[in-house]
Order: sequence, then structure tokens, then C-alpha cells
Amino acid sequence: MGQKIQAVKGMNDLLPVAQKDFKLTSAFWQAFENTIAAWTRRFGYQQIRTPIVEQTGLFVRSIGEETDVVGKEMYTFADSNDKLNLSLRPEGTASCLRAVVEHNLLYNNPQKLWYSGPMFRRERPQKGRYRQFHQVGVEALGFDGPDIDAEMITMCADLWNELGIRQHLTLELNSLGNMAERSAHREALVAYLQQHEALLDEDSLRRLHTNPLRVLDTKNPTLQVMANAAPRLVDFLGAESRAHYQSLKTMLDGLGIAYVENPRLVRGLDYYNLTVFEWTTDKLGAQSTVCGGGRYNGLIEELGGKPTPAIGFAMGVERLLLLVQEYGCLKADGAPDVYAMHQGEGSVLAVLTVAEQLRHAGIDVYMHCGGQSLKAQMKKADASGARFALIVAQDEVANGTVTLKDMQGEHGQQTVAATDVITLLQEWKK
Ligand code: HAM
Repeated sequence: MGQKIQAVKGMNDLLPVAQKDFKLTSAFWQAFENTIAAWTRRFGYQQIRTPIVEQTGLFVRSIGEETDVVGKEMYTFADSNDKLNLSLRPEGTASCLRAVVEHNLLYNNPQKLWYSGPMFRRERPQKGRYRQFHQVGVEALGFDGPDIDAEMITMCADLWNELGIRQHLTLELNSLGNMAERSAHREALVAYLQQHEALLDEDSLRRLHTNPLRVLDTKNPTLQVMANAAPRLVDFLGAESRAHYQSLKTMLDGLGIAYVENPRLVRGLDYYNLTVFEWTTDKLGAQSTVCGGGRYNGLIEELGGKPTPAIGFAMGVERLLLLVQEYGCLKADGAPDVYAMHQGEGSVLAVLTVAEQLRHAGIDVYMHCGGQSLKAQMKKADASGARFALIVAQDEVANGTVTLKDMQGEHGQQTVAATDVITLLQEWKK
């Protein structure tokens, strides 16, 4: 026997059964996918599917060279044939925009799009943080807002309600202003931090020039007093940015969607401006952000398209489903309607035939294969969670009948002509 080969660290198998350290099951995930398909349709968003691999330059240019995601977390490799430098996508926005620009979808035509699939970041794995994880993302391209900003947040709230986890999520909101406002703030911030350079730790010194806003995120308690008194971005916002932010907040108030303003909310990717938001929970330990997004008005132009305002968000599916599994209300029904069993000569063909008829009538049938006594088969039927057992044994074959058993006991057991079983099942299912 050869040695067993294991999955790559931080990358999960999704199985029909829960694992010790990864409790999500494929049936649960599938129920979520069905919910997402209906939810996006409800809001009029169309799906886009892009490749998992892109040219590395796409992410460098959009997410930003100095970010953790691009700087140290990407899976990057040289394609041996044509010497291209490629990366596994660490997020979906950049790929979505690359495709939209490449195929000219925005020509006189704003787009409301969504996507889902695996993303890759080489982070230190822990509960809720993986190296292959999944996102469902939504992007609205060609809209100035703030009406669409409000729709984005409403859309999230609508999904949290449906999944039964709304009360466990907090909406954090901020405005990053436009580019000029941000750079004026940045200048003031760097000057302020330089005045306090003696206080800064190694991380903060490194970030001073690359990403000074992140210095304010410090967990170091000795830096926090200094960080709290630093120049605030909100004080640098001009009238237009303020008005955009204010009307979004007024709409959220009108919709009854509560939010917490967090002037420290900057997001880990460089492309944002104006509205940014995150949905966080205190139920998942350190990995508390379930969904994040915001406006990125300059990015489409940066990627070679016409200047186009845009906004979007993405949720981490594993994080979200861990929360839903524990506190929410998504029903994952992996059980078939009917567990079909058979025994004796001629019974296989009879059961195969009737099972196919049931399936055509919209009834899910699991067929027992591989023999065993009827008693053993009944045990399996019970364990399968199926509501009904269908039995074809010698008597049934001889008489052209089948026996149906209600596993929940309500209707007991009844033998009917094989041709009548669909009618009986439909009656019992009511
Ligand atoms: P992000 O905040 O980097 O934003 O990721 C969105 C969500 O993906 C996070 O809130 C988190 O739930 C999940 N996530 C991120 N990294 C991991 C990980 N290593 N393991 C598990 N889950 C993770 C974006 O990616 C933007 N593209 C969102 C966006 C769309 N902004 C505008 N449009």
C-alpha cells in the first residue's frame, strides 16, 4: 500500500458528512447555493463566471502591491510555456472587471453582476480562515449611487434575514472620500505619525509610508492613545463626499437598517473610495468579518475601461455558513423521499421500473443496491432519513403490486397496484 496523500493545508474537502474540524456538509452548502441563486434573481443580478487563474498583474494593479493579499498571500507561478506570470485569484472583483472591460459589457449598459467560487490566499489557517475559501460576490457597475449603495446593503440584510442570522451581524460603515481627499488626509497623517516616530513599533514603521491608515489599526495598546488622536479622514471629506455618505445613512435609517459608523474601517484592498462597509459578528472568534465591500469608482479605468462608478461586496461562504449552521435557519435536506428496496427473483427489474416512474413524477428515490435481507434494508431505509420505504418482494412481484411504508408511522403500511403508487405517495406526502 502506498502512503496516503493529504489535502493541502488550509484547503478543505466538502463531504456529505461533517468532519471533526470542518462541520459544513455538501447538502448544506447546496441548500445555500439554491438560496443564493433565488436571492440574486430576486434583485435582478446576473451571474458571471471567470477563470480561477489570471495574470498576476491584474491583481497587483487592482488590489495594490503593498496590500497583504498581493504582497504575501498570493499563489503565484510562472506558466512554463509562454512565460506569463500567473496567480490563483485571491478575490473576485478584479477578475469580474477584467472580463467586463475585455468584452466591452459596459458600452451604454450598466451591469448588475454576481459570482461565486473558490478564492486563494496563503494566510495562516485557523477556524474561519482558509487558504482556499469561497466567496459569493456582487458588483454593480455604472451607477453613481447612493441609491445603489443602499441597495447593496439592503441586499445583504435581506439575505441575513432569510438565513436567520440578522441579529448576529453588525453593519459597520465608513466613507473613505475621493482620491484627493484621501491623499490630503494621508499627508497629514504621515506628518502626524512622523512626529510620534519614536513611539512606533516595527510594523507601524514599515507601514508609515506604505499604508499609514493601517498604523491606526494597531493592536499595540501603547500606540492606541496616539492613534486615537491622529487626524481623522472624515474631517478631510469635501461637501460632495459628505452628501453621498449622508444620503446613504438617511436611506438606511428610513429602511430601518441599523449601522455603526467606524471611522477606522479602511478594508484590506486598495481600490476603495467613498462608501465602505463590513458585516461583522462576535460569534466566530477572531475571524469576525463575514462580508465586506464598498465603492471603487477608479478601478474600471485603472483596468483599461472608461471611467465608470462601481460598488460591490463579497461574503466568505465558510464563515457565513458556520454562523448559519449554529444560529441560523437554512434547511439542508439530504434525505430522499423514498428508499426503495427489493428482494427475490424478478424484483430488481420491478423496483428499477417503479423507481424511475416515481422520479419522473418529481419524487426523489434512493435505490438500495447490493442485496441484503429486507430487515437489513429496512434499517438502512430508517437511517437514510427517507420519509417512505418502498418494498418489492416475492408477493409484490407475483401480484404486480408494491408496498409503501410511512417511516413516520402516520399512514402505516399499504400494498397497492404498482400503477397506483404515485397517487398514493402524493396523497401521503400532503
Ligand atoms: P475581502 O474583505 O478581502 O473583500 O473578502 C470578503 C470576505 O471574504 C471577507 O469578509 C471574509 O468573509 C472572506 N474571506 C477573506 N479571506 C478569507 C480567508 N482566508 N478564509 C475565509 N474567508 C475569507 C474582497 O474580496 C472584495 N473583492 C469584496 C468586494 C467586492 N468589494 C467590492 N466588491
